Amino acid sequence: MNIVLGVGGGIAAYKAAELARALMERGFAVQTVMTAAAQQFITPLTFAALTGRKVITGLFDGQTADSVLASSVEHIRAAQENQTLLVAPATADLLAKFANGIADDFLSTLYLAFTGTVILAPAMNTQMWLHPAVRANVDKLRARGNHIIDPDSGLLACGTTGPGRLPDPAYIAAETSRITAIRRDFEGETVVITAGPTQEPIDPVRYVSNRSSGKMGFAVAAAAAQRGARVILVAGPVNLATPPGVTRVDVESAVQMRDAVMAHLPEASIVIKAAAVADYTVENPPDQKIKKTMAKMSIDLSPTPDILAEVGRNKGTRILVGFAAETQNLVSEARRKMETKNCDMVAGNLVSQAGIGFGSDENEMILVPRTGEPVKLAQAPKPVIANQILDHVLKIRLAVRSGG
Ligand SMILES: Cc1cc2nc3c(=O)[nH]c(=O)nc-3n(C[C@H](O)[C@H](O)[C@H](O)COP(=O)(O)O)c2cc1C
Repeated sequence: MNIVLGVGGGIAAYKAAELARALMERGFAVQTVMTAAAQQFITPLTFAALTGRKVITGLFDGQTADSVLASSVEHIRAAQENQTLLVAPATADLLAKFANGIADDFLSTLYLAFTGTVILAPAMNTQMWLHPAVRANVDKLRARGNHIIDPDSGLLACGTTGPGRLPDPAYIAAETSRITAIRRDFEGETVVITAGPTQEPIDPVRYVSNRSSGKMGFAVAAAAAQRGARVILVAGPVNLATPPGVTRVDVESAVQMRDAVMAHLPEASIVIKAAAVADYTVENPPDQKIKKTMAKMSIDLSPTPDILAEVGRNKGTRILVGFAAETQNLVSEARRKMETKNCDMVAGNLVSQAGIGFGSDENEMILVPRTGEPVKLAQAPKPVIANQILDHVLKIRLAVRSGG
């Protein structure tokens, strides 16, 4: 597995050399990125010699106008080629940059472009570690789904005793293996995921649609791919980048979405229907733009194909997860959907609440499984919710396998 080892400018930077070796012994191909401050403590040559790869030391390393035009920009390429970003030592400065989206060097820019697993191993003086600013940044990063390997307590380089010491490199490497192994728990699965709204044409220039941004479905697709699944993402019209490792099929209307889902159903072992498919479509839209001549106009709408129900009828041994976006009676609506559409679980969210649901970066959900009690997922960034949904899908998969 490819990993980026980001080295910050802390006194513990020397331990990162041993960490690079420990990671390689565990089968990781290590690409080192050093900040300018890190190079004050240890030289890039050490990492280049240990890893057998050129160390990235700056945002503008080797970048000429020609090289940028000829290939993708290096930090974007590094983000796409690697599944894991481990930063050790993560200085107070780096934590602040990551938490606040500052991108003024290679490592902080890579962090923003990175969609894989992020593991941060902070190390600093005890007073710095306990400072409210650092605490707030760590909390923010944890809530975003970044893994934090807490520092050890002990005698620090500055002569004081307390929390702040970088843990043993062997321990960080073992934790990295454990965290990345958890994330490969969808290996062997093919997941078909739908996301976004559909657009039902009124005429060649107008359409009926809804407020779905596609962010939740894309987050589930990204998480499933990171966790080792083969992912086919059937996306309505949205303004989102395709997550790494995901095969994307773009569609516009409900009928097109239905056709794409049914075409890929034979390959799927799990189907997650996060799209907000229009319930009604315009009957026989004209080929030409409707002119503004009438004082009033009405449009006849007819029901779209019920994709969830059709997948439910052809479910076989697949796991089927539906989504319910409601403005009231969430649990009863989710349960009704599960029964009538033959789902194994319905993920419900109240789209009327400010700050969560359509268009937001955060969500709060209730998972209603076929067996067992509903599970409330507290408000969190959509990538965190996506992984929690997948954890529950896995529980269903294990229960089915063990005949439970
Ligand atoms: C001798 C020395 C040791 C330092 N050790 C640490 C440290 O362990 N942790 C930390 O967060 N900052 C430490 N700093 C401060 C950082 O080097 C400084 O904040 C720098 O801007 C970090 O840059 P970077 O985050 O881009 O690597 C140390 C500074 C010096 C001069």
